[in-house]
Amino acid sequence: MSDRKILVTSALPYANGPIHIGHMLEYIQTDIWVRFQKQRGHRCYFVCADDAHGTPIMLKADREGISPEQLIAQVGKEHLIDFTEFGVAFDKYHSTHSEENKQLSSLIYERLRDSGHISSRTITQAYDPVKNMFLPDRFIKGDCPKCGAADQYGDGCEACGATYSPTELKNAVSAISGEKPIEKDSVHYFFNLADFTGMLRDWTSAGHLQAEVRNKLAEWLESGLQQWDISRDAPYFGFEIPDAPGKYFYVWLDAPIGYMASFKNLCARQGLDFDEFWATDSDAELYHFIGKDIIYFHALFWPAMLSGAHFRTPSAIFAHGFLTVNGEKMSKSRGTFITARTYLEHLNPEYLRYYFAAKLNAGVDDIDLNFDDFSQRVNADLVGKVVNIASRCSGFIAKRFANVLSANCSEPALFQDFINANKTIADFYETREFGKAMREIMALADKANHYIDEKKPWLLAKENGKDAELHDVCSMGLNLFRLLAAYLKPVTPVLAKNAEHFLNSQVDGWIDALQPLTSHAINDFSPLMTRVEADKIVAIVEASKENLEKTADKPKVKKFEPIAPAIEFDDFAKLDLRIAKIVKADHVEGADKLLQLTVDIGDETRNIFAGIKSAYAPEELEGKLTLVIANLAPRKMRFGLSEGMVLAAGPGGKDIWLLSPDEGAVAGMRVK
Ligand code: 2FM
Ligand code: ZN
Repeated sequence: MSDRKILVTSALPYANGPIHIGHMLEYIQTDIWVRFQKQRGHRCYFVCADDAHGTPIMLKADREGISPEQLIAQVGKEHLIDFTEFGVAFDKYHSTHSEENKQLSSLIYERLRDSGHISSRTITQAYDPVKNMFLPDRFIKGDCPKCGAADQYGDGCEACGATYSPTELKNAVSAISGEKPIEKDSVHYFFNLADFTGMLRDWTSAGHLQAEVRNKLAEWLESGLQQWDISRDAPYFGFEIPDAPGKYFYVWLDAPIGYMASFKNLCARQGLDFDEFWATDSDAELYHFIGKDIIYFHALFWPAMLSGAHFRTPSAIFAHGFLTVNGEKMSKSRGTFITARTYLEHLNPEYLRYYFAAKLNAGVDDIDLNFDDFSQRVNADLVGKVVNIASRCSGFIAKRFANVLSANCSEPALFQDFINANKTIADFYETREFGKAMREIMALADKANHYIDEKKPWLLAKENGKDAELHDVCSMGLNLFRLLAAYLKPVTPVLAKNAEHFLNSQVDGWIDALQPLTSHAINDFSPLMTRVEADKIVAIVEASKENLEKTADKPKVKKFEPIAPAIEFDDFAKLDLRIAKIVKADHVEGADKLLQLTVDIGDETRNIFAGIKSAYAPEELEGKLTLVIANLAPRKMRFGLSEGMVLAAGPGGKDIWLLSPDEGAVAGMRVK
């Protein structure tokens, strides 16, 4: 086997939100491919990082009353835990806010600048006069100039689909302060992408891209390449541009450099040679797995930046489609915006790994996760076909043959059929035709089951003088099961590991080298995978809807909230507002924002979950009086029943103030 050197990346997730199953499609796809390469014996490294810079992250930290550094450290940790539990095994998971990335970003910028590929000029942009900052398009809201829909972003209307520039919005306001933006000038730095038109024309048609991606790029190249604005003004969370104080690299400049930076960190820890992978004459392979929405950055800007800064360009960009759930875009209100964490709380991650594998191919079409299909496939294939072989054979080997396999491989031709499939399966894995690989493997599983059906070990077990045959058949079955688990190892590594433990034999390399296990002692069998239970899926959807309630469908940017519509006095009179005494306050396990309060409202005590953890420690609250709505219908939350609402005010983070009465108030008093 050739000794390939392969560096693989997945796109870097933004450090301002949780990983969801849409993200997982990509990380699982990449991880399967990397595990396959490693199993083939190649030197393959898989690096990734949190994408930590930019305005949304800066503002989110601001809202939470923490520093961006604190925010990204916390989110980065959560991301890595989610990935690890899904079996995504990075060799290095780093952050773009790292020393390596700062140095490499400066180096690349300086090389581009010194070769004349950077220019600067003054541009006019919307500016928030209260927050004293320039406003990215997404942070300007107003009425759509085409259809008049209110509360639309500065770059396009979600109601009618129109795209426009923020200056065209009617009644525009800053989404951060609610203030009317003013126009302001500032010097920006640009990367002269058009300098690379020839290089990109060659590169994009030289076999580094999928056919459909190449066609898209040809269109873009045809319509001419524009200068790319790579600078942002302070305040900005990112790296300051070396020769331009107060100017920062735009997040998309240093994000892909984060691939290099993460690898650089790995090199330092493992004594690898960075240049062997990144120098222009490198013979290593470099692959980026990405979603189809970020092709522009990876197939135009990135190769141009690399080539202009005298680094090698990628061997290929592997783009994939989006994930839909039950045929539709993931939706918070339908409960199909499922975070990795919510999934992990209810279901085995290997179900999803297998399901994605079964649906993935090398193209950019969207992939649908249909819950019925998901349960049916996992149950029929992994549980019903693969694991079933082991359950059917293991009992006899344990009870009748003291857990030792037969000395024979009774069906060498059948065993060889399974081995011979290795080339086809390897080709499918290599070309990212995972669905085809899974079908090939399941066809083998069918064959193994068919063999057992024909031999009927359960009948042999009852007949006299058939012990040797029973031993051979069940041993054969387990040997075939071993090959299936080995073929599935890139997809279901935990299942494979448990199978290896059961069979007391590890499979490290590729399948072509495997021999049957004979006269071999194995371990007791324990169920390797159980069926997907329908109620777990219901629970995931419910919990995802609850997430929605908990976070109140928090917008990516804080919306400017206009005064709510007027209500009638009668509506107001319906509120049972009471003074309550907080008798007990506790943390809620697994909740980032909630505290559990026991409050005395005069005639009874109530349990209320309140989203005030960022502002109060439980011990500060005990004994305090506050205001509650006592007749709010009880609400079932993931953590228990909440029987009322505590009233508080403030922008969030540390700035939440409980509405508390003056002295003289006592628990139970009605407020009107
Ligand atoms: O689209 C995104 O989620 C970006 N954070 C991806 C960055 S990939 C790479 F270029 F860093
Ligand atoms: Zn519109």
